[in-house]
Amino acid sequence: MKLPALIITSLFLLSQTALASGIPEPRRMELLNLLKHDCGSCHGLSLKGGLGPALTPERLRGKPIDFLTATILYGRTGTPMPPWRPFLTDREAFWLAERIKEGVR
Ligand code: HEC
Repeated sequence: MKLPALIITSLFLLSQTALASGIPEPRRMELLNLLKHDCGSCHGLSLKGGLGPALTPERLRGKPIDFLTATILYGRTGTPMPPWRPFLTDREAFWLAERIKEGVR
């Protein structure tokens, strides 16, 4: 009778981890992949800049997280920065903004 208890405990722990950001691990992997390849096509594969500016912690210091999240969701009119709203939820855009502010390895 130990197995069901173990399963329930691990399910509970898993859901707690997922709740920490509200984004399940597989989706986070997808988002990091998107960041590298799609965002990287303009911002540079290592986000050090290209057509778009570098998305490094040093450059983004002092820029509010909500401002960056809004840029990701809605893009910037009149610039090549496209809106990602069709592909990302608010929470996912916020999570990506956190990643670039903290520095993606
Ligand atoms: C087609 C090219 C292109 C793609 C793809 C792209 N960006 Fe951008 N991005 C830009 C440009 C150009 C700017 C600068 C806009 C401006 O002049 O204000 C920018 C600006 C930004 C900024 C604001 C930076 C700042 O210093 O204020 C953030 C954050 C950002 N992009 C994140 C992303 C993320 C995350 C993705 C992928 C989900 C992405 N971008 C994909 C071109 C792109």
